[in-house]
Amino acid sequence: MSVVPPPPRTPGRYRIALVCLGNICRSPMADVVLSARVADAGLDDVVEVVSAGTGGWHAGEPMDRRAAALLTAEGYDASRHRAQQVRASWLDTYDLVLAMDDANLADLQALGPADPTRVRLFRDFDPEGTGEVPDPYYGGDAGFRDVLTLVERTADALTGDLLHVVLPTGHP
Ligand code: 4NP
Repeated sequence: MSVVPPPPRTPGRYRIALVCLGNICRSPMADVVLSARVADAGLDDVVEVVSAGTGGWHAGEPMDRRAAALLTAEGYDASRHRAQQVRASWLDTYDLVLAMDDANLADLQALGPADPTRVRLFRDFDPEGTGEVPDPYYGGDAGFRDVLTLVERTADALTGDLLHVVLPTGHP
């Protein structure tokens, strides 16, 4: 599904939170990849990307070693991630709060009133599909590879969309 990102709450600035269950596998991978794409597009001064888990069990921990190994092998920097738990206030402050799966989205919606144009599934921005980013935690390496494929494709599309939404119209 390919949707257009909503306008920024504050002109000239765009804040994106990526949310999974533990914040050690999927949302950190999406965070690292989307941050890299945003930097490549020259948007790192205006677009902020963070990630968090609906659960806090892993707070303070680095990324899952399987996720970090794959990202590192693919040329990304996975070393700086530290897990944190999402806060209810993010529903009102971030421009997009993007859940990796349906349960993560339901947990976000349970935190308080959530604008459906801003609090939604990450893969709503996937140009070639829709639905969930499957949890790879209890599976093998192939699951992490599948997550990276979905995340790279969706991050590419979202970054392209952000160029139009974030930059003032009429300027390249
Ligand atoms: P994530 O994966 O939500 O993609 O970070 C998981 C991480 C930890 C657990 C489950 C999923 N866990 O049960 O501890």
